[in-house]
Amino acid sequence: MIAKEFVSATSINDLREILSKNKTLFILSGGSNILFTKNITDLTLHVALKGVFVVKETKKHVYIQANAGENWHDFVLWCIKNDFGGLENLSLIPGNVGTSPMQNIGAYGVEIKDTFHKLEAIEIATGKLHTFLNSDCNFGYRNSVFKNELKGKYIITSVVVKLTKENHKLNYSYGAIQTELEKRSIDKPTIKDISDVVIDIRNSKLPNPKEIGNSGSFFKNPVITKEAFDILQKKHPNIPLYIVSHTQIKVPAGWLIEQCGFKGKRFGDAGVHKNQALVLVNYGNATGQEIYNLAQKIQQTVTEIFGIDLDIEVNVV
Ligand code: EPU
Repeated sequence: MIAKEFVSATSINDLREILSKNKTLFILSGGSNILFTKNITDLTLHVALKGVFVVKETKKHVYIQANAGENWHDFVLWCIKNDFGGLENLSLIPGNVGTSPMQNIGAYGVEIKDTFHKLEAIEIATGKLHTFLNSDCNFGYRNSVFKNELKGKYIITSVVVKLTKENHKLNYSYGAIQTELEKRSIDKPTIKDISDVVIDIRNSKLPNPKEIGNSGSFFKNPVITKEAFDILQKKHPNIPLYIVSHTQIKVPAGWLIEQCGFKGKRFGDAGVHKNQALVLVNYGNATGQEIYNLAQKIQQTVTEIFGIDLDIEVNVV
């Protein structure tokens, strides 16, 4: 895809100046969660504010500010190197810090909302800087206020997370992490061990966007009622599940898509990843529209076979 005009902002002053001169903008962060189906004719504004700082410390915690243009995984590795705990399960997630709260990035039992302290964002209409605390962000599963009522209204400039300096609260209940730790005979893992294991699991299941075009999970895992799930489970006793509440169950979309026969299938240069059916891949020359057509075909089939509607997780432009 082609951006007609492109500008990179490395400071809040840059952002304010660009906002004051342009009415319509296309705001771009790391670009890892976007499917482009057309060229961008508005000015593309790349948010590239850099910097990672400790802003406050207590005996047990450290508050770290990372500016929006920092690469997420580099930031996680910096925290691990300094033995600051809380983000290790979120290792190797593509994208930048600034967009991490928008979709409340999550993996292996942890979401950014668990360590998120606050963020600053510029209001596009006024250029004013606003602070949003955790409770202001309305975090949900791959969701926040910035994907809903405040969509398109703010540019996130920095994020502050609250991490542990000691007695790290490790989360390795997720099956694949446990199995991998056992394989390596690690019974008292460090945050670095968890990060290493997560990196290896991700590398084995998820295609590297640098090698083959993809945006990670293309769909969200659907949440259905317990009654609907019980009916499904009678037909498919091996169906995996995540319990959301006593009335709601989340079903892995990857499993549903695999059952419909799409896993590893290729349609021209658009395809469904061979190791994780939730990920759509571009083998080279598929257009955004072709990837989107495949996504729609998958949605229709899953609805026909299971009566479940899949929501697209990536931003389709
Ligand atoms: N499964 C299949 N077939 C597949 C894929 C998965 O049967 O092709 C089954 C697995 O066997 C497993 C279950 O589905 O029992 C869950 O699979 P997995 O652990 O790979 O996780 P997921 O639910 O498919 C979610 C996130 C991922 C995140 C992983 C690990 C969403 C939309 N995706 O995937 O996030 O890495 O959990 O926590 O919630 C992303 O958002 O881009 C992303 C990659």
